[in-house]
Amino acid sequence: MKPPILLTSYVFPEVIELLQQHFDVDDNQRREAFDAVSLRARLRDKAGVLVAGGDRIDEALLDACRDLRAVCNAGVGYNNIDLDACTSRGILATNTPGVLDDTVADLGFALILAAGRRLTEADRYLRAGRWGRWSNDLLLGMDIHHKTLGIVGMGRIGRALARRARGFDMQILYCNRSRAPEPVESALGARQVALDELLAAADFVCLTLPYSAAVRHLIGAREIGLMKPTAVLVNIARGGIIDENALAAALREGRIAAAGLDVYEGEPAVNPALLPLENTVLLPHIGSATRATRAAMGLCAARNLVAALSGGTPPNLLNPAALSRRRG
Ligand code: 8YV
Repeated sequence: MKPPILLTSYVFPEVIELLQQHFDVDDNQRREAFDAVSLRARLRDKAGVLVAGGDRIDEALLDACRDLRAVCNAGVGYNNIDLDACTSRGILATNTPGVLDDTVADLGFALILAAGRRLTEADRYLRAGRWGRWSNDLLLGMDIHHKTLGIVGMGRIGRALARRARGFDMQILYCNRSRAPEPVESALGARQVALDELLAAADFVCLTLPYSAAVRHLIGAREIGLMKPTAVLVNIARGGIIDENALAAALREGRIAAAGLDVYEGEPAVNPALLPLENTVLLPHIGSATRATRAAMGLCAARNLVAALSGGTPPNLLNPAALSRRRG
């Protein structure tokens, strides 16, 4: 008998096909929204789960799922999974690093351009029939080229963003726990600085760091207060890194120029204070949303699940300490 698994979200056909070769698949191709109760009911008898869209895998859920052996996230960020709770129960957890870096960096740069050059605001202006005549000072934006980009979190996505910025002749500052290797710094022309210095110097600040409780509201009123009044803040990481109320107030009062956000603390709910702001580009968490990249993420998660449930070591194992206690 094939091990039973659950897919919490819609996945592309090639992902289902791969999984069906190995597992008895309980899919969610009808895109049902699982609440905590229905997720528990569907997961109770499963050996593995392919999680996407930030579905929460917490201790209470794991306690209800005694047969669960693997939690495989179709995403690189895994703050939706209680990793310690997985490890202590011998449940392997995985993510999908690497396959989405360029796609997410593309979106990050798109937000820099869109917020800096007021693209969505201009689009709304035109559609509203307000474009009466050309004017010299209509919808003036910021130059992107030759400006300073501050990247908070210099991992794979931060570096991919920096490579794009090089093409715009931008100066690059970054803030990261550890220093990037010298060849990386010199190839990108990037200089490591402290967060406060980055915030004060950058024309564009882009957040590309992983989320953990330690970085909740890393960017709050004090940090926003350090930014230039002409600066643009872009977030392609996780919403909780920014204090959205403080950001909305700063944008409303013109204390910074603009923001481009792909992620929100309570998503899919969006802080209502952000919605009326013309100087804010708001996207529904589409950083990795291309057909090719979402398929690569799904297949990567599926391969992790196959390895985990066949007694192997998944390529993207997040908690090696679980191996010695693995179930089944
Ligand atoms: C995912 C993401 O689409 O990979 C991540 O961390 O934020 C997105 O690319 C999202 O997590 C859905 O699983």
